[in-house]
Amino acid sequence: MDFDIADIGLAELGKQRVDWAESSMDVLRSIKDRFEKEKPLSGLKIAACLHITTETANLLKTLKAGGAEVRACASNPLSTQDDVAATLVEHEGIETFAIKGEDSQTYYSHIDTVLDWHPNVTMDDGCDVVSRLHANRPDQLKEMVAGTEETTTGVIRLRAMEAAGALGYPVVAVNDANTKHMFDNKYGTGQSTLDGIIRATNVLLAGKVVVVAGYGYCGKGVASRARGMGAQVVVTEIDPLPALEAVMDGFRVLPMHEAALEGDIFITVTGNRDVLREEHFRLMKSGAILANSGHFDIEIDIPALTELAGSGGKRQVRPMVDEFLVGEESRAIMVVAEGRLVNLGAAEGHPASVMDMSFANQALSVEWLALNKGKLEPKVYDVPKEIDEEVARLKLSSMGVEIDTLTQAQREYLESWTVGTN
Ligand code: ADE
Repeated sequence: MDFDIADIGLAELGKQRVDWAESSMDVLRSIKDRFEKEKPLSGLKIAACLHITTETANLLKTLKAGGAEVRACASNPLSTQDDVAATLVEHEGIETFAIKGEDSQTYYSHIDTVLDWHPNVTMDDGCDVVSRLHANRPDQLKEMVAGTEETTTGVIRLRAMEAAGALGYPVVAVNDANTKHMFDNKYGTGQSTLDGIIRATNVLLAGKVVVVAGYGYCGKGVASRARGMGAQVVVTEIDPLPALEAVMDGFRVLPMHEAALEGDIFITVTGNRDVLREEHFRLMKSGAILANSGHFDIEIDIPALTELAGSGGKRQVRPMVDEFLVGEESRAIMVVAEGRLVNLGAAEGHPASVMDMSFANQALSVEWLALNKGKLEPKVYDVPKEIDEEVARLKLSSMGVEIDTLTQAQREYLESWTVGTN
């Protein structure tokens, strides 16, 4: 077996934690049970570039149960759980290339090793595999059956590729399923982002001014959870619609140059670059804590902060927290998890019960792609509505929640257009 992981000796711990996560992933487990009998993924070689977590391990086990061959690598240099990588190799026989804290060169060499294996399906989280495949290995595109993409950031990149006529094979935008972004992005990011900041700093949120940059699903989740813990939340936006939504949801909305003066904790979740930059660092209070929960580490301009602090102006003050001294008064600005995804760098990512839905969408989307092999165009496809609804139904049932069904009269009423005011 080929693999590159930190320590195979961590495999037993990893197995225990993967089993623990599985106990909250009923929907995925029911899919795995069916896949074991039907083997709908036979013939697929899946390159899975995902955060190597306990939840991902359960997805990979499901894909393997479905008859697919799987190779895995990390989708972020800081998100790998080394014990999970070890159990994937030791107990699941899944060739894994991921080490927590790997440098950028190792990160890309791991992706290359997975691509050297000539997969025919990509399962991406951030589109790094798809873009590397298209940029460096156009000759391999003809081998590809299809792909899936997990994140908002990745889907934006894929749609740009499609618009430019550059996309070489069909990809399902798993992120855009309702049972993914309405729950994973909102409740998952909301909770795990604060979890990461709290684990790293032990800061009390009650009474603090928390500035949330971006009011998409992720920003909504972070803002509402921070408010729930007693913080005064300020939202910043560049889009008038979510800005208005934030105002009506009861948050203060400010431009960042004003929020920068007030914030105790800043959290970026925009998907764009340089959201916190030099002009803002110059305004911040000493002790301000900065964290990013967007996919890439570009939202906080760390190079500018490093330059501002100068040589000797940066030191690690706790695991996962770097202090940068800024200005003549040496104001201390704290950056959590190097400005990379704080929820996965400093905590364990989203809890299993929400990843259950995201990864059920992944597994069922790959099955749909296998069923439709050869019939699809090189486009970005939505997750079929039936899959989205099935995931919602299965999740409700696993939670023991029952809902009503339409009566015949109600169904007819919804389908008619002649009935108006009585
Ligand atoms: N993205 C966010 N949280 C995650 C998790 N727990 N596992 C995999 N990907 C994630």
